[in-house]
Amino acid sequence: MKAKELREMYLAFFKENGHAVVSGASLIPENDPTVLFTTAGMHPLVPYLLGEPHPAGRRLCNVQKCVRTGDIDDVGDVSHLTFFEMLGNWSLGDYFKEEAIVWSHGFLTSKRWLGFDPASLSVTVFEGDADAPPDEESRGIWKRLGIPEARIHALPKKDNWWGPAGTTGPCGPDTEMFVDTGRPACGAACRPGCSCGKFFEIWNDVFMQYNKTADGRYEPLRQHNVDTGMGVERTIAMLQGRPTVYETELFAPTIEAIAERSGRTMAQDSETTRAFRVVADHVRSAVFILGDDRGVAPGNLGQGYVLRRLIRRAVRFAKALSMSEGFFAPLAASVIDGYKEAYPELERNRERVLTELNEEEAKFEKTLHRGLAELDKVLARMKEHGQAVLPGRVAFRLYDTCGFPLEFTEEICREHAVDVDRAGFDKAFEKHREVSKQGSDRVFKGGLADASESATRLHTATHLLHKSLRDVLGEHVAQKGSNITADRLRFDFSHPAKMTPEEIARVEALVNGAIERDLPVSMETMTLEEARRGGAIALFGGKYEEQVKVYRIGDFSEEVCGGPHVKSLAELGRFRIVKEESSSAGVRRIRAVLEPADRLVEREISALTKKTSCCV
Ligand code: SER
Repeated sequence: MKAKELREMYLAFFKENGHAVVSGASLIPENDPTVLFTTAGMHPLVPYLLGEPHPAGRRLCNVQKCVRTGDIDDVGDVSHLTFFEMLGNWSLGDYFKEEAIVWSHGFLTSKRWLGFDPASLSVTVFEGDADAPPDEESRGIWKRLGIPEARIHALPKKDNWWGPAGTTGPCGPDTEMFVDTGRPACGAACRPGCSCGKFFEIWNDVFMQYNKTADGRYEPLRQHNVDTGMGVERTIAMLQGRPTVYETELFAPTIEAIAERSGRTMAQDSETTRAFRVVADHVRSAVFILGDDRGVAPGNLGQGYVLRRLIRRAVRFAKALSMSEGFFAPLAASVIDGYKEAYPELERNRERVLTELNEEEAKFEKTLHRGLAELDKVLARMKEHGQAVLPGRVAFRLYDTCGFPLEFTEEICREHAVDVDRAGFDKAFEKHREVSKQGSDRVFKGGLADASESATRLHTATHLLHKSLRDVLGEHVAQKGSNITADRLRFDFSHPAKMTPEEIARVEALVNGAIERDLPVSMETMTLEEARRGGAIALFGGKYEEQVKVYRIGDFSEEVCGGPHVKSLAELGRFRIVKEESSSAGVRRIRAVLEPADRLVEREISALTKKTSCCV
């Protein structure tokens, strides 16, 4: 069975069981600041899982493209992927455990559908902890369906609990389904969940009955939902009797293209196998991210940064296979051609995908060249002196002056059994920020006395904050004061009540959303009256000269201000509110900072690796 048939069969099965087939969403989440990419089919459905009525009803199914980079270091083994397709069915307050498990079992084992040998299946259920009891109900249903006790394993939260990729949202215990590949067990403790590759996890049924709140509590959800996810790549690998996800028709054209360009075969040796897989995986993910209709370009922020990292990693592994520059085009074309029927957006965006990949590859060549040469020298010197820890300031220098990503430094160092002093890197980073601090902290006439780069960035962020506060809290918000240092901004504004955590999160999301869109910043001189008529926010009305400067940030904000401001929002990094407090009666005070974008990615990656996950 090919992927195409699997997708069709899945939807047909659930349609037959009363589900509406809905479209998969974009890879780039909408109105959801908790993740950079759509990581599961449930993601775009969060509002409906929380109780909002869905226009298509209470039983849904679809095929969703997903990106998860939390396990990026595991890519290269038999089953981990950064992009994958997820088949999902949902109950929005309709059926629960009984129907979900019976259908999963039926679809997997019935001869009319996938026809897996029931003897090859094992399942896991939640063992229970202080937050929720053991899932005896799921265990009982599996037993009744004929899965023997010995193949039903109870596992803890880290394995059998689906929490949202962010920190809050709908969650609950899950039951996962595994196919035994027939490979020998890696040891006495080998069982489903073991990473040796004997058991392939192909499907996960989540029973959402809790909402995790911002303060870490699990409150019962008003509506009980089912959220399931079946991995297309893993399932067809098992149906086709392949030992890895790379050996199906989905990867074959790309693997062939790699073999052609590198003059090697994938099975040559384990390093070559890994490099083939990493290149094939990363190229596919990059094509899907760039080829999305809401596609992002490689950059230093958020999704753009993850994309850049995937592309740059692909280049590195392609080099290990001696593939010459320009390798992206034929590989990307193989992905587009293979998937364009199921995902027509890839064909629509073909030009953009290829151009961006080529440009990013060329850009990275330069960076890599300088950074690698420098790091090689350092590592050689360290070896001479028997040193096993790369000083943080050296890693920072590579990052700062060579543009060499920290994770590359870490990865290469790992290969040389050298540690990187992370804390030292962070310290060097802070010191750098101190040094760039200059001038006074005074703010006058809406302009910026401290025109250092950091303060300028914070100044532009203040405009975004001001506009976002008005959007979230209302038009009554007016600036009462602003104080910017090289390290942080402080903003006072009229508002009668303490902001809720949700309001703070929404304001941050709006500001970061504008930054991620990399809106252009422009300036025009006009009279205050003209500025007002044009709808600009005027901060210190009346104190201005007749002519004023109006700073416009894309379609987001327009504000009368003395400047200066950054030229492009990409320079800002990630905006974070660190404190919201009372300043005086009816006036609130916010302190906020800008952090380098790669910190966000690190946070996302650590959040992703902490949670239970299916299909990667
Ligand atoms: N959200 C669950 C998962 O990704 C089921 O789809 O595993």
